[in-house]
Amino acid sequence: VSERVLITGGSRGIGLAMVEGLLADGHSVTNLSRTPPPLVTTSDGADFTHLECDLRAPNRVRAVVVRWLASKNAKIDAFIHNAVAYGTNGRRPAVDTTLEEWNEAMDVNARSLLLILQLVLPGMLERRRGRILGVSSDIAIEPGPGRIPYAASKAAAHAIMIGLADELRDSGVGVAELMPTHQVDTPGIRSRRPANFEPIGYAKPATFVSPIQYLLTCNMSQLHGSRLSVDADGRLLDASGELLS
Ligand SMILES: NC(=O)c1ccc[n+]([C@@H]2O[C@H](COP(=O)([O-])OP(=O)(O)OC[C@H]3O[C@@H](n4cnc5c(N)ncnc54)[C@H](OP(=O)(O)O)[C@@H]3O)[C@@H](O)[C@H]2O)c1
Repeated sequence: VSERVLITGGSRGIGLAMVEGLLADGHSVTNLSRTPPPLVTTSDGADFTHLECDLRAPNRVRAVVVRWLASKNAKIDAFIHNAVAYGTNGRRPAVDTTLEEWNEAMDVNARSLLLILQLVLPGMLERRRGRILGVSSDIAIEPGPGRIPYAASKAAAHAIMIGLADELRDSGVGVAELMPTHQVDTPGIRSRRPANFEPIGYAKPATFVSPIQYLLTCNMSQLHGSRLSVDADGRLLDASGELLS
């Protein structure tokens, strides 16, 4: 089955790996980010669209998504929220956290999730069919020192997903989060590390390919409201460590 997928943050890192995996499986993928991904390969039947959009700008997000939805007759099968603003390099204690980094993290990581799902959900509910997937992080539960804007925004996104799952029980729309068990070597992570950084022990973005392919076609009823893990070998595990793919 070829699904119509909207993803945020598919220009690089984990998002790009998911875009490539979905296209390889023949899905139609639309990406929202400020810059386009490098050339992506599409297989038979699959197509790729890049919509330039800064997720910090709510009016722009709404306008871009509404126009795109109209071009698809509001028929979209899956929305994946993956984009992230990690904040300034390095860690900063709470007293030195700036309003700018707080706003950027909240706007990109949490508010844009709410804004976009408000636009895509009505069509999914009408068809009683759809999937909303969020890329989460351990940091939503265990912030650690010096990362308050990122941690708070991921916690907010997690709360949105849990609340949404509760609202959407028996609606035909499945909701789940997926997150890496290890740090993943992405451009966003590298930009926060020293120039001589060696990604020893880090997973590859490609570990998300098989999990997202599975989540696009599996029966979501068993997984609704769950927080799934992607391990360093690219396996998808449920909360009790059971292997899904
Ligand atoms: N990497 C890890 O170790 C790790 C660990 C736990 C969880 N995660 C989660 O995995 C997801 C992906 O992380 P990553 O490491 O792959 O990130 P990344 O390499 O920094 O990529 C971030 C993506 O978000 C987009 N983005 C950032 N700001 C944006 C804005 N203002 N408007 C539109 N798009 C914006 C970027 O596109 P543009 O710059 O083109 O706009 C890019 O495509 C995130 O949700 C993150 O929380 C990652």
